Amino acid sequence: MSSREFNNPPAWGGLDETFLEKLSEAKRIVFFTGAGISAESGIPTFRGKDGIWNKLRPEELANFNAFMRNPQMVWEWYNHRKKIVHDAKPNAGHLAIAEMQDLLEDVTVVTQNIDNLHRRAGSKNIYELHGNIERNYCINCNTFYNEELDFSGGVPKCKCGGLIRPDVVWFGEFLPEDQFMGGEEAVRNCDIFFVVGTSAVVYPAAGLVYTAKKSGAFIVEVNIEETEVSAICDTSFFGESGKILPAIVDHLKKRE
Ligand code: APR
Repeated sequence: MSSREFNNPPAWGGLDETFLEKLSEAKRIVFFTGAGISAESGIPTFRGKDGIWNKLRPEELANFNAFMRNPQMVWEWYNHRKKIVHDAKPNAGHLAIAEMQDLLEDVTVVTQNIDNLHRRAGSKNIYELHGNIERNYCINCNTFYNEELDFSGGVPKCKCGGLIRPDVVWFGEFLPEDQFMGGEEAVRNCDIFFVVGTSAVVYPAAGLVYTAKKSGAFIVEVNIEETEVSAICDTSFFGESGKILPAIVDHLKKRE
């Protein structure tokens, strides 16, 4: 039985021959990542057993109306997350993707994460679909404030008087068009599409898995459990991304 016919899939047993053959032929690779790739850096995920949304309600924190109702509370939550992200380090999974950039012809990262860990790991070609917690902008005039914000007088305000907010995409908001279009273009043209550490339930980002499928990419899932998209993946490696992705780097290095 293939791993996807189990509810709790068997642990990853190594890189299978079909995958290795596809990898040897692949020119363009996309890593589509979610919160799971940062879990081993100590950043909590959103869903699953210890997910953030089990304790907090996204409607009260991660949306514009919540911010306008209570900017202080929303900033308290984001400052808490900024601290976690600031203290976190890229883990072996992030580093493996960055290393594959030097071992393979064309690697693109399309991430839902706002933690900047792919960039800190050394990845270059990154599309950030849901923004970046290290950037902030004025809701009135869109001026960016990416240095340390001053909270001594309460919620930080722009020179124009507008409230400053985190540069993250909240529920109900559009994704940054340049990031989504750029990421989608890379997905349409890739040979292998890795879907790493995401429950693939938040759209339009999750729709990229189907875009990859329609474009004929070989789809490889890396996750600790089955997801909504496991059934359409060509192969699923069930295990921690911090273990599986470095194994791919090791294989590529041996091949050299
Ligand atoms: N290795 C691989 N996968 C892992 C690991 C790990 N070490 N730890 C957890 N996972 C998997 C979980 O099984 C789950 O499928 O990572 C996934 C995390 O899913 P979510 O918490 O839903 O995160 P994500 O898919 O990124 O959420 C998408 O939702 O709340 C919004 O904007 C937020 O970008 C986020 C979006």
